[in-house]
Amino acid sequence: MTLVGVAVGVALAIVAVFIPWLPDAASEQADIIDTVYWVVTIICVVVFAVVAGVSAYAVYKFRAPPGDTDDGSPIHGHTGLEIVWTLIPTILVTGIAVYSGVALAQAEDLPPDHRVVQVNSEQFKWSFTYPDIEVEGGRPLTTGELVVPVDQTVRFEITSKDVIHSFWVPEWRMKQDAVQGITTETTVKPTELGTFPVVCTELCGLGHALMRSQAVVLTPADFEAWVREQQRLAREGGAVQGRDLFVAQCGSCHILEDAGTQGQVGPNLDEALQGADADFIMESIVDPSAEIAEGYQDAMPGNFGEIFTEQQLEGLVQYLQEATGGGG
Ligand code: CUA
Repeated sequence: MTLVGVAVGVALAIVAVFIPWLPDAASEQADIIDTVYWVVTIICVVVFAVVAGVSAYAVYKFRAPPGDTDDGSPIHGHTGLEIVWTLIPTILVTGIAVYSGVALAQAEDLPPDHRVVQVNSEQFKWSFTYPDIEVEGGRPLTTGELVVPVDQTVRFEITSKDVIHSFWVPEWRMKQDAVQGITTETTVKPTELGTFPVVCTELCGLGHALMRSQAVVLTPADFEAWVREQQRLAREGGAVQGRDLFVAQCGSCHILEDAGTQGQVGPNLDEALQGADADFIMESIVDPSAEIAEGYQDAMPGNFGEIFTEQQLEGLVQYLQEATGGGG
């Protein structure tokens, strides 16, 4: 009977392993995490099959005959059996704990040549600061989209301005909460080029479902080119860059037809900024509490004047004015 349970368990585990349940693995950590996941899953499937098999067999074999209303015969446990069913789970659970701990330490291993990226979260957007990349005005580069070179370990330092969010790129597997007042950390070494979603996985309010960004993994040469382009844009600004900024930084809260954004936390900008002049748009961005659109709360972050360079702000205003038909 136990053998049948084991056979069924092994068969189920094999089926489970060959269905692609998980997203693509695009980091060194993903392979470590996935191995832990499958080892634990296989153990669980086998244990479940044995327990369920024995239970089903016992229910069938020892059921009371029709009309039998007597109490069951009194029995006094079975010391040998009890030792076995205590020992096996103890060994399994302890083994899994030790193995997971070792895997986590391995995943968080930080080589000396790693890069640091600060992950800033707030209702309802992500931004990323590169402390060792300088742009116009001597401030560190901050973007709404995460861009990293392939095959270099990145240490993410994660903070929140308000409630708890959670930073997660599914293809990288590593996930970490963003908590106000402390800096949490996680480590990822991307191994695949491409664009992956950055997702908030902690219910954080009205805009939670739209609190997304992108992680772009480039070759080292493309990454260097991207850095130079960001430095140029921070220096020169312009409406084209304004649109990119808008999509990345504002789109999760505002509808703007031209940018194709769908956020509903803040006012629809096609209406709120229709025909607005540059001064009003600039004020709305850097000092959003000054004038609150009817029916909305004073919820917009007040720090865009610090996050964006002057050129970025001007580019954003120029873009918004063009997109909403304002003449100035
Ligand atoms: Cu931020 Cu959910």
